[in-house]
Amino acid sequence: LSSSSTYTVPPSVLLLGPDNAGKTALLTLFERGAKPSATHTSQVSQSIELNASTDSVTKASFRNHDDATGTHTKFLLVDTPGHGKLRNVAMGKLARTEKTKAVVFLVDAAALGEQETLAPTAAYLYDVLLFLQKKATSKGKDKASIPVLIAANKMDLFTALPATMVKSHLETELTRIRASRSKGLLDSGVGIDDVGSEEQDGWLGEYGSEKFTFQQMGEFDIDVEVLAGSVLTEEPGADKWWWWIAQRI
Ligand code: GTP
Ligand code: MG
Repeated sequence: LSSSSTYTVPPSVLLLGPDNAGKTALLTLFERGAKPSATHTSQVSQSIELNASTDSVTKASFRNHDDATGTHTKFLLVDTPGHGKLRNVAMGKLARTEKTKAVVFLVDAAALGEQETLAPTAAYLYDVLLFLQKKATSKGKDKASIPVLIAANKMDLFTALPATMVKSHLETELTRIRASRSKGLLDSGVGIDDVGSEEQDGWLGEYGSEKFTFQQMGEFDIDVEVLAGSVLTEEPGADKWWWWIAQRI
């Protein structure tokens, strides 16, 4: 081949989220375009190449199109293990993947009403958002504001919280985590205005605000959206998530 042809890395979309959220099931659904396959707890990351289009005819279809028309954008969907002991694998993907265009953070909306699921889910999300906030405020060449979709999965189950409650539960828990992680700072009696930029860098969202909201990530140009769906059933299905991704690659 011509030596002038340059190999281009396609953009990546990272699938993050705790174990059992449905990440691998979603990957197989997008890959096959129909029924997802049975999954096991993931221990390694895997990526597949997909093509998405924002053209109106195929926008709701997540079949793995071949790009014959030139209207599709090729991208890599990267699945990561959610288990807490493998968090370094997932966070490593976040830190090292080139051309990450978006993060899809999958949560199990049917289990999020339980504190034992909410707490570790929010703790993981906190780490992801703080990482992205630091990336957005960095001065290096890899400075970027990466949008986040919180995909509230398993809406087919009767215990599933609606998207608005997934959002508010997570915001409440993130507020609590932020308060406890910055406790030393707040207790030191230093006024907010006297705090150095280093401390501010460790604070998620609007500095000094009482309650954390996803909207505060807008200060860093990071768009966070919560959309409900289901991998295993056709209704509500995964179309909205696919469309969100298609618009961001
Ligand atoms: P790790 O690999 O451990 O990080 O988990 P994961 O996020 O990859 O979860 P996985 O895709 O393996 O799915 C976990 C379980 O949830 C599987 O039994 C799936 O069949 C099930 N599941 C995924 N999506 C849905 C859904 O929309 N509804 C229901 N009811 N179950 C789902
Ligand atoms: Mg998995």
